[in-house]
Amino acid sequence: MRMPILRGMKRWGVLLSALLLSSLLLAACGGNSPSILNPSGPVALKESNLFWFILVVATIVFVVVEGLLIYSIVRFRDRPNSPAPTQTHGNTTVEIIWTIVPSVFLFVVLVGTIYTMFGLTTFSSTNSRPLQIRVVGHQWWWEFDYLNEKIVTADELVIPVGTRIEAQLLSQNVIHSFWVPELFGKTDVVPGHNNMSVFQADNVGSYRGQCTEFCGLEHAHMNFYVIVKSQDDYNAWVTSQEQSASTTPTEANALAGQKLFLGSGGCQGCHGIVGVNLKDDQHLNSGADASLLVGPNLTHFGSRRDIAGAILQWDPASCVVVTGSDGKPKIQNPDACGLYQWLKDPQAVKPGNDMVIRTLSDTEIAQLIAYLESLT
Ligand code: CUA
Repeated sequence: MRMPILRGMKRWGVLLSALLLSSLLLAACGGNSPSILNPSGPVALKESNLFWFILVVATIVFVVVEGLLIYSIVRFRDRPNSPAPTQTHGNTTVEIIWTIVPSVFLFVVLVGTIYTMFGLTTFSSTNSRPLQIRVVGHQWWWEFDYLNEKIVTADELVIPVGTRIEAQLLSQNVIHSFWVPELFGKTDVVPGHNNMSVFQADNVGSYRGQCTEFCGLEHAHMNFYVIVKSQDDYNAWVTSQEQSASTTPTEANALAGQKLFLGSGGCQGCHGIVGVNLKDDQHLNSGADASLLVGPNLTHFGSRRDIAGAILQWDPASCVVVTGSDGKPKIQNPDACGLYQWLKDPQAVKPGNDMVIRTLSDTEIAQLIAYLESLT
């Protein structure tokens, strides 16, 4: 037996669930997720312009086609006693029109795409000198080598505003993909095949980047930040970053931390600090020529804000070292200190990562944090 009312209800149920599900999906797009539609540099601007152009063309096609369809459904619907419509078989004129018109639309989109692709790296810069960077994708963090400065950073790429950035993309493990939605589109980082990414930031600020090619267990936790500074601020940053770390820290906890770093902590097997266990000319971490270090270069760790693929934040104010009732140093509020959590159990924070260490006591962690904080 047919039950039209029940059938109608079922259809509405499906429609409603689809709407609810899609709103649930779209809700995840809110917050402070970076958007390609909020460009902050010439490359991202050209890419978003292409997006809008294709969207306009596609919207015209959609509206015209669906409009004709709805018009035909309503206008030529079956009415009581209406005669059978005229039967046709083939119409050369119509067939030529519906071949040529879509071809013209697709050709327009093709021209727009090719025009954008070839003009992507042509833009004017306020700073005449481009900045050469080598980007190395690790599992799972990003290394940034400044080829003409003696600087290596991790998880944070500091650049001057209005400057052309020429980034060589390298990987020694698996394929990653380098992407900062507000600055430039995705480029794969392929082992043995050196890709380039050219971009520029036109506004001072901080822009989130993300690995966008599945590269293993912690792919989703392979973020980074591009920090854009004014030319003067950038010059000051370079000057401070080019300094070696002090050979011997003055503060007692920091000194104990350095001993741990070099000795029983086992840190220096993977990490380097220029002036301590790295010489000035060994500032590069890895890349094509040197497989010197597994982990990030920590020479100026204290000046960074992001750790562990930017999934934890380093904030000295949240990691205050105090003296406990037993007279030993400890972190005042371990729960608020990202670096404490990382040093306590890096495998719990990011399972499968390269940082496999022995269990450190709270005193040792406090000493290491005191030392790392001194590396500004
Ligand atoms: Cu690296 Cu995904």
